Amino acid sequence: MAAAAGYITDVAYIPGFYPHMAPVSLRHAAALNRVIPPRSDVPFRYLELGCGLGRSLTTLAAANPQGEFVGVDVNPEHTRQVEGDIAAAGLNNARVITADFAGLPADLGRFEFIALHGVFSWVSEQVRREILALARERLAPGGLLLVSYNSMPGWAHLQPIRGILRQYAQLRQGDSLQKVRDALSYLVFIRDRHARYFEDNPRAAAYVDGLLKQDVRYLAHEYLNEHWTSFYFSEVAGMFGAAGLAFVGSLPVFTNFWDLCVRPEFQELFRTTTNRLVTEAHKDFCANTAFRWDVYCREPRLMTDAADRLAQVDDLRFHVAKPGTTLPYQANLGVVTSTVQGPVYERLVALLGTGSLRMSEIVAAARDVVPQADDVVRAVDAGVAMGLFDVTAGALEPPPGAGGDVSIASAFNRVVLAADALSGRPLALASERTGTGHTIGDFDAAILHELVERGRGGLVERVDARLVAAGRSIQQEGQPVTDPAARRRLVEAACTAFLDASLPQLARLGIVAV
Ligand SMILES: C[S@@+](CC[C@H](N)C(=O)[O-])C[C@H]1O[C@@H](n2cnc3c(N)ncnc32)[C@H](O)[C@@H]1O
Repeated sequence: MAAAAGYITDVAYIPGFYPHMAPVSLRHAAALNRVIPPRSDVPFRYLELGCGLGRSLTTLAAANPQGEFVGVDVNPEHTRQVEGDIAAAGLNNARVITADFAGLPADLGRFEFIALHGVFSWVSEQVRREILALARERLAPGGLLLVSYNSMPGWAHLQPIRGILRQYAQLRQGDSLQKVRDALSYLVFIRDRHARYFEDNPRAAAYVDGLLKQDVRYLAHEYLNEHWTSFYFSEVAGMFGAAGLAFVGSLPVFTNFWDLCVRPEFQELFRTTTNRLVTEAHKDFCANTAFRWDVYCREPRLMTDAADRLAQVDDLRFHVAKPGTTLPYQANLGVVTSTVQGPVYERLVALLGTGSLRMSEIVAAARDVVPQADDVVRAVDAGVAMGLFDVTAGALEPPPGAGGDVSIASAFNRVVLAADALSGRPLALASERTGTGHTIGDFDAAILHELVERGRGGLVERVDARLVAAGRSIQQEGQPVTDPAARRRLVEAACTAFLDASLPQLARLGIVAV
């Protein structure tokens, strides 16, 4: 019998796709930290612990048909829905197991990738030990593991919010949704009456406004579990270290570059520290990190130099993330704003603006401007960190012409579009070209669904009718538009923008054929 060990099971979680979980993201995080990642252009195995409703699992399975994807979750309501999605999309490379982490089949084998998101901070010490045992036994040599968790010191002043919510919820009747709603009302009540905790912690007071915008199912899973711990980076590195895994790097990509994470006045501290484990601890204090996505490796093999990177991981491709981007480019990464300009990036933007190139191709093409391969590699990785470039598993195709029928080959993408257009939340479509999922808004999804199902004729009228039938309002300057003619004009503008910008990009990613 599977045991949830204090984790709530009376309310299902919300579906969500998290791009950091993609093999391509893990592999790039390893490569930029000079660790040779497992190959993903050959069959590989991927295990997700605590897969919830499985959107990351199924999207990644659809985007990587050469991989075998296994999800595990203790909540049968979750695994039933994942099984339904796998069957509807005909995914023959994904499956889900209803079990707790201690109850996995003995013959499950080893995996090149293991990922757990939204799990490690929310389970008991015993369950964490079970996770660490799986990390020790199930990660293949050279394999990568991704773990996310609530971190210190970012949670220090917010931690009491969880305490108040959970303690108040325990006094209430009903299911977890009702309890978290009641607890949130109580939190707002004491915040609005200036309870001393909130007076002394103004950021905690502001944080409550953010909670009010969240889905209550998320709030129940975040705050009502019996166990809830925020960790210092060093504690987690210690636990995985004891399980035989080495810290490799982190996601998002910019978190691997301390100069993009901490203000210039702290940077001397980092220049003089060579121990990465110490650097990470400093960084979390300087940046007040509240959440981490860390990548670990079993028996990491280190690259010797840039030439070794080109030899070992040259299947990754790079392109300009937003077509038409020009320099200077500004990246605002929270604490630090960086400006990208100069001849090196001029050349890289020219190369990667239309093409999608391997690192060896970039090094060769940029040699006259940047003679050292090492400098090119660093500039490209930093460009990815700043959001200027994207990294993909395979090559993108140039955008096609404007007109013509729009079709979607992937059964998974067709199922997601049919189910989730106008669902009120963004959805992710899988791309075999990139090896990952790409998120679009649910309104754009409705436009795409209409295009695929019934073509371009009368598109605006059909999308508008769909909005009305779904009871969805369209907003202008924060206000719902009620006048039908004004609403129709906005729908028309949205359809034009979708056809001009989003559709060519989706075609380039191989998600649609035009
Ligand atoms: C916050 S959800 C995250 C779901 C998913 N990873 C995501 O990001 O959407 C945590 C999941 O872990 C599962 N879980 C918690 N404890 C577990 C255990 N001991 N064994 C297996 N699954 C567990 C829960 O049922 C839940 O689906």
